[in-house]
Amino acid sequence: MNNFTFFSPTKFVFGRGVESRTGGLCKQFGGTKVLLVYGGGSVVKSGLLSRVEASLTEAGIKYVEFGGIQPNPIDTKVYEGIELVRKEGIDFILPVGGGSAIDTAKAIAVGVPYNGDFWDFYVGKAKVTSALPVATVLTIPAAGSEGSGDSVITKIDGMNKLGLGSEHMRPKFSIMNPEITMTLPANQTAYGIVDMMAHIFERYFTNTRDVEVTDRVAEGLLIAIINEAKKVMADPMNYEARANIMWSGTIAHNGLCGVGRQEDWMTHCMEHEVSGLNDKVAHGAGLAVIFPAWMTFMAKHNPYKGAQLAERVFGIEAKGTEEERALKGIEKLKEFFVGTLKMPKTLRELGFEAKDIDELVRKFHQNNGETVEGVYYTMTKEVTRAIYEIAL
Ligand code: NZQ
Ligand code: ZN
Repeated sequence: MNNFTFFSPTKFVFGRGVESRTGGLCKQFGGTKVLLVYGGGSVVKSGLLSRVEASLTEAGIKYVEFGGIQPNPIDTKVYEGIELVRKEGIDFILPVGGGSAIDTAKAIAVGVPYNGDFWDFYVGKAKVTSALPVATVLTIPAAGSEGSGDSVITKIDGMNKLGLGSEHMRPKFSIMNPEITMTLPANQTAYGIVDMMAHIFERYFTNTRDVEVTDRVAEGLLIAIINEAKKVMADPMNYEARANIMWSGTIAHNGLCGVGRQEDWMTHCMEHEVSGLNDKVAHGAGLAVIFPAWMTFMAKHNPYKGAQLAERVFGIEAKGTEEERALKGIEKLKEFFVGTLKMPKTLRELGFEAKDIDELVRKFHQNNGETVEGVYYTMTKEVTRAIYEIAL
């Protein structure tokens, strides 16, 4: 096990009706005037935004609405938000939504106190040293942004989708009412489930040995997610299953499943090129295609973790070679993604063709370096191409 620091200070307030506590919590964390960041209108339609606003008013907190954040959020809304916050003298950023609203809110939060272009942080030109406080009211269990210090934004000029990690962006608190997730369309629920599983896989596939506790946490979580997902897909109004899925999304990505080991994240980087190039592709849909392809490549080239996953999570018998076991596990995973979650299987289903692979490979290496070392398997252009080809 490697040395590690685990610090995950977000206050999670979970359960039925907890959005009524938003105002009090904003006050507790020093907010006096709040920017309410939200998406295309689901929170208006469900009445959640009004309930949050009522709670703010009750606590004596002013607010300004800032809606229209699209899935796979873009830089132009960040610039707009930064300007609005400066003009209005806002001191607290509160996204009400999913990863897209939350990540935009985080980008605004780091952009406001910075004199240059907020994008400098995402391309590594500048380091975040301060941010306005951010808290969240979560509406979709998926990206895990409610408990992470990460934000992912696409720059329209060049369609570059890049992530930024900084402790300054970790939410002060997150309000999580599972009932709110009952209005999610089935495909969005499913994309979210794929995403949270992917966040666990990215940490599980590691060359660091002897991290048995972290492995077992990850495996237990995966088993629970698969079981609860089946219930949610069959009965979207099942509160208990919704609650279990919602909490899973948070602990899948708040760092717990990564302690003591090197993490991989190459599949996420490969997926970000997919949903970066075509912003109609949901992150979870891209992952449902890329992860099994990545695992299939790894079954041949570095099979040990895939074999362990197959045995411990998918109940594959411990006989045959590691590669054989890993491949059987991948079949089970695909069965779940396609059979239960109704996910796409190929890049073609997402609108890509063989000729697009050059561009995906080019952008991946432009954003991550010629060769990426120190991960589960060294990523050269040949490796990246081979995985995209399996996914096609
Ligand atoms: O925009 P509205 O109208 O709100 O509709 C949204 C949107 O269309 C809808 N939705 C959300 N909650 C709902 C609802 N509809 C009905 N009822 C509800 N309760 O769902 C759609 C998707 O929302 P979005 O916020 O885009 O989803 P998600 O949470 O999956 O976020 C995806 C983004 O997060 C990034 C992804 O790359 C993608 O850009 N990620 C962020 C990470 C992070 N910050 O740590 C890590 C992830 O790996 C990921 O990369
Ligand atoms: Zn993800």
